[in-house]
Amino acid sequence: MSVINNVQMQSEHPLMSFARKIADCFESSVEIWQLTHDWVQQFTVGEAPYPSDQCDVHFYIRKSQNDSEPFLLSLDDDRTLFLFPVEVETRFKTVAVGISRLSQTDLLRILLKQDSQLQRLEERNESQASQIDLYAAQVTADFEEMTWLRALADQLGNCTVERSLNSLAESALELLGDLIHCRSVALITPELGTSNQLELFVQSWGEEINEESCRELVKHWKKSESSVPVVCNDGIIPNSDIRCPAGIQSYILTALMKDGKTYGWVAALNKKITGQIRTHFHDQMDSASELEFGTSEATLIRSTANILATHAKNLDLFEQRQELLIGIIRTMMNSLDAKDPYTCGHSDRVAQYARIIAEKMQLSDEECNDIFVTGLVHDIGKVGVPDHILKKPGQLTKEEFAEIKKHPEIGYNILKNLDAFAYVLPGVLHHHESVDGSGYPYQLKGDEIPLMGRILAVADAYDAMTSTRPYRDGMPVKKAVSILLEGAGTQWDKVCVDAFLDGMQQILEITIESDQQKDHYLKKYPTRAHALQSEINSVQAAVKAATFV
Ligand SMILES: [Fe+2]
Repeated sequence: MSVINNVQMQSEHPLMSFARKIADCFESSVEIWQLTHDWVQQFTVGEAPYPSDQCDVHFYIRKSQNDSEPFLLSLDDDRTLFLFPVEVETRFKTVAVGISRLSQTDLLRILLKQDSQLQRLEERNESQASQIDLYAAQVTADFEEMTWLRALADQLGNCTVERSLNSLAESALELLGDLIHCRSVALITPELGTSNQLELFVQSWGEEINEESCRELVKHWKKSESSVPVVCNDGIIPNSDIRCPAGIQSYILTALMKDGKTYGWVAALNKKITGQIRTHFHDQMDSASELEFGTSEATLIRSTANILATHAKNLDLFEQRQELLIGIIRTMMNSLDAKDPYTCGHSDRVAQYARIIAEKMQLSDEECNDIFVTGLVHDIGKVGVPDHILKKPGQLTKEEFAEIKKHPEIGYNILKNLDAFAYVLPGVLHHHESVDGSGYPYQLKGDEIPLMGRILAVADAYDAMTSTRPYRDGMPVKKAVSILLEGAGTQWDKVCVDAFLDGMQQILEITIESDQQKDHYLKKYPTRAHALQSEINSVQAAVKAATFV
């Protein structure tokens, strides 16, 4: 039998209040004794004249001070001496002592009844406490999930739509691994342009995950119309008798699905088991959650996958739009090539050269791509130049050249109302400016010329010099490079010319493969590699010669 305990706090001293209740319930007098330096009477209700010949109360108190059970003694006058320890949150041992008019049997019955009521109360309290713990854990889990989703939404809000999933995952998934308490998180996406090659981004903490194992996991994923996560905690692929791939003991895997299309998969791998009590919400759950992936983790993975799938779809739409735009641009440029077949391929090559220069200048992927597209359209204004001038095989008159010089502004006016092409306008308008102010249309100088214009000017000049025209052969690469070096700092931006030289090998690979030059090089050299090496040597000689000058 457990002792009567948990004295409730009230306005009067709790032990006094307790004594009153006992006196009332037991039809008795009651004294509360505490062991300070010795047993001292503290609170009294009623008088309890102990028959000295029958009981020495001090004797019984001392006798029972180490007992946790009530002590009952029938006295000669049909009264009963009772004594039981009271649990209070003090450092003093405390007992209630009294003499009741009730018989020992009646007292025992009351004690039992009180005790069972208390037990029920305790059980109910424990159940409520456990419910509160669960609610608290759930609230914490919800809060952490909300924090994570908000962080992910912020990442999405702050990133441009063309940011790749892997790039997003790199900065976002670390927090997810911490929340889910797993050893690795993987984002698996189909490789660009392929349907069965898989690209992986894996973030691990304290283990190395075999990428092939991740690919194998995806192969076991049953393709379905839902993105319900698959949860495995026993090392066996669910709904099969196949063991998990090497290095994977447990996992949650779900697909990034949007409108019926699968953009990839996200997986939490290998539940981290520490056995330590942490403040993390999962550790407040039952012990199973410490060992296994559960509903909370699966929900979090699914929410993450839904958000990433939405981003993937936006990315998909953005790429489709970009492809459409590039297609339109190429169509426009083809119509220009048809108008002037001798410059055929010029825009394509300028676009590629300009991108190489931009890459060598360490510009961002986005800027390099913008410069490439601008290179494709830089001469679009030539559609507005009369055919007889554009196709004239010989030297142009002053008036004819004035007409040609209008093409940057014509191109600008053609494109200026297309919002999607706004970024190409500076390059289109200023690709014929010179850093010394001798160019056109606005005679801008140095850094007044937009960077795109300065880069395109170098790429454009190199291709113009090395391309064959009906009235002249293309200039040798060595000669063209010498002219660029000579004009660096006057006609062309020196930084852009230096970047051009840095990318010379890639540029030459494009030059010798161009439709115009291919035949020339094939006649002159036994292989493409010989042609490339020869041109590299000649360019190095040109650079060396320019350096000594
Ligand atoms: Fe031009």
